[in-house]
Amino acid sequence: MALPHSSPFFHLLLAFFFLWHLPLGFSDQSNCQAWLVQSIPTDMPDLQLVPGVLSTGDVLQWLAGNATKSLDLTVQYWELLAGPNDSNSGDYGYSEAKMKKFGADVGREVYKSLINAADRNVDIRIIQHSGLYPNYVQEASDLAAGRTNVKNITLLLKNWWGTGIVHSKVWVSDNKDIYIGSANNDWNSLTQVKELGIYLVGCTKIARSLRHYINNLWILSTLNSTDYTRTIFDSQWQASRKVLAIRKSRRS
Ligand SMILES: *[C@@H]1O[C@H](CO)[C@@H](O)[C@H](O)[C@H]1NC(C)=O
Ligand SMILES: *[C@@H]1O[C@H](CO)[C@@H](O)[C@H](O)[C@H]1NC(C)=O
Ligand SMILES: *[C@@H]1O[C@H](CO)[C@@H](O)[C@H](O)[C@H]1NC(C)=O
Ligand SMILES: *[C@@H]1O[C@H](CO)[C@@H](O)[C@H](O)[C@H]1NC(C)=O
Repeated sequence: MALPHSSPFFHLLLAFFFLWHLPLGFSDQSNCQAWLVQSIPTDMPDLQLVPGVLSTGDVLQWLAGNATKSLDLTVQYWELLAGPNDSNSGDYGYSEAKMKKFGADVGREVYKSLINAADRNVDIRIIQHSGLYPNYVQEASDLAAGRTNVKNITLLLKNWWGTGIVHSKVWVSDNKDIYIGSANNDWNSLTQVKELGIYLVGCTKIARSLRHYINNLWILSTLNSTDYTRTIFDSQWQASRKVLAIRKSRRS
């Protein structure tokens, strides 16, 4: 389920904006290739995948499937596994046949590809928001449980800025293959919601830039925001705002 403000178009715009502003674009990498990636709801005969455009469910499985060393993910929320038997889930009450028709098994396949990568001892790092009712970050926690090669952290940007969430959906495999797009780690985002993204293969320079971004978020998540922020009253706008402010006391 894409949130109201998360239109695929907006995300693609963001992706292109990001790519254009990289110091070294992919034009000077002879082996770097890009494809558009789509999700189109099942059961819509008048709305087919555009020929030549890849499907999100395939691309995410390839990124996990091809990973031999590392897999970095930024995730807003998790719902790759449908919950037709869970009375708290939006999927509750649908028959197995109905879920299959909705394409829910693609989500299960993507989750399985992550488990397989974890079992191949790929180093998986997950930076996530707090997730959504009813299961929140359960799927990431299950992936990390008992595995030292899987690290899952929840970054609450609102602790730093008073508002905001990890909303980007980025997968980076072996520091060279990448998905950037609008699709959440949700089976609905693979087969029930229109989503748009880009699949980059062999793009080490772009991956390096993404790694900086992900590493920075990772460091941020290890810091205690209380030590670095202060709430002030902004007299011009007559509102309280959270601002960065390094407290000296316990750090000096
Ligand atoms: C690796 O990615 C390619 C496309 O880039 C795909 O054809 C292939 O199936 C993927 N391999 C695995 C094991 O997922
Ligand atoms: C839901 O319950 C049915 C009947 O017990 C079972 O066949 C099915 O595998 C369950 N589905 C899931 C996704 O757990
Ligand atoms: C990460 O997974 C572990 C193992 O399941 C769990 O105990 C922990 O709460 C998870 N951390 C976050 C931030 O979700
Ligand atoms: C963060 O710092 C505050 C104030 O120093 C402290 O009360 C709080 O327990 C800390 N939180 C964590 C998660 O360490």
